[in-house]
Amino acid sequence: MTIQANIPNIVGTRKSSSTRIPCEELGPQKLMIEGGQRLHGKVKVSGAKNSSLPILVATLLADSESVVRNVPDLEDVNTLMEILRNLGLEIERFPDGAIRSRVVDNTPYEAPYEHVQRMRASVLALGPLVARRGHARISLPGGCVIGTRPIDLHIKGLEALGAKIEVRHGYVEAQVRELVGTRIYLGGAYGSTVLGTANIMMAATLAKGRTVIENAACEPEVVDLARFLNAMGAEVSGIGSHRLVIDGVEELHGADHTVIPDRIEAGTFMAAGAITGGDVTIEGVCPNHLMAVVDKFIEAGVSVDLSEPTTGNIYEDSYKGSIRVRGMGGTLSTDITTLPYPGYPTDLQAQFMAMLAVSGGISVVTEKVYPDRFMHVAEYCRMGAKIRKEGPSAILAGVPGLSGAPVKATDLRASAGLVLMGLVALGKSEIHHLHHIDRGYEKLEEKLHGLGAKIWREAD
Ligand code: EPZ
Repeated sequence: MTIQANIPNIVGTRKSSSTRIPCEELGPQKLMIEGGQRLHGKVKVSGAKNSSLPILVATLLADSESVVRNVPDLEDVNTLMEILRNLGLEIERFPDGAIRSRVVDNTPYEAPYEHVQRMRASVLALGPLVARRGHARISLPGGCVIGTRPIDLHIKGLEALGAKIEVRHGYVEAQVRELVGTRIYLGGAYGSTVLGTANIMMAATLAKGRTVIENAACEPEVVDLARFLNAMGAEVSGIGSHRLVIDGVEELHGADHTVIPDRIEAGTFMAAGAITGGDVTIEGVCPNHLMAVVDKFIEAGVSVDLSEPTTGNIYEDSYKGSIRVRGMGGTLSTDITTLPYPGYPTDLQAQFMAMLAVSGGISVVTEKVYPDRFMHVAEYCRMGAKIRKEGPSAILAGVPGLSGAPVKATDLRASAGLVLMGLVALGKSEIHHLHHIDRGYEKLEEKLHGLGAKIWREAD
């Protein structure tokens, strides 16, 4: 049963998406959650952050305007738009929500440290700038709490295409007269690289001749980028496989593209429905993008119903699906190991761990993508979870309940995990360092509030 809490109308604290108040103007905030509500109802996910970012960077390659639709209103998107403006693009979000982007100056080639250190995905500008302008100077992306975040495979790929690379003073500088296609193996110690594949694929679209990328990442976001590039006139084949073949073309034109739904946001709401023992339907998603996740939820004793494909076109169906999740009174313990797609996604590791924290029995969570991605464990333990870190794994002993506590977000997906913990913890939880959430989740508390959660923001 849900008693609608008499809580400040959270919508008032944030204007509509088109006039989002940057967090710095609002001052530091914290997220307040009063646990104990079973979530129920429907929620629609936003466009995928990790598809939007490379696609917006790819507009650097075009000679005319692109329109990119369904891009979520996030700090990371706004940061990237600022970086692209400094790289000679006119890029704006229009009232209908679509982002229009076109190159007005093809000479800038540098992404400065003050931007890159705010968002690692800025490294995506490397490939397009080298391919289109023959020169790029990008600050090395610092590490972050989930790991060192190297870019050696990005550099390996660009050198293979003929670029001269220098790494000094905290910057990577690449120069070339003309990129020449070749065969490149892009697998690293942890398997394929998502942004590395995106970078080399974008560069190869304007290289001379054919490029073959072996052990390419095949995440849905890489597929979405490849489809956008082909809409711009590129010739990418093998889309969705671990072998991408790109035949270079002379030039690319702008295109009109709708970004796929965010599968990580969808998985986060699946966990919210399951952990609270509720009944939540996530709409506007592509169940095919979440099969490893659905498999694990079912193994954990959660009831999951998937919508059937409606159009028979796998791309069309990407936007029209739904997933209904019903918690069956507590979840079962199970083990997960994160892997590159189509394995279980590392970006949903913290969220699933929150579910396992209150399941019955012993569970093991193993990280094969980012072995250090366990900063959230200490915060979970503050709420009463019983978790022990053992090398690349965390071992959990499920507990009957959690207690609300002040905790701090450490990275984007760990913050979502803390929200899930707060939804079931007894009493109030406070989540500090909210900028992590605002980087990657559009209107998270509004969406959860719409499902019956007692959640709001307060000045921190
Ligand atoms: C993308 O990061 C995502 N970010 C990450 O999501 C996601 O966790 C990751 O892919 C894995 O799925 C964006 O799309 C903006 P990787 P990326 O290169 O591409 C190692 C989020 O929360 N590696 O696939 O940077 C690397 O250290 C973010 O939205 C190298 O060794 O990740 C890692 O262990 C967090 N050398 C593994 O490969 C390289 O040159 C996979 O990294 C590149 C990567």
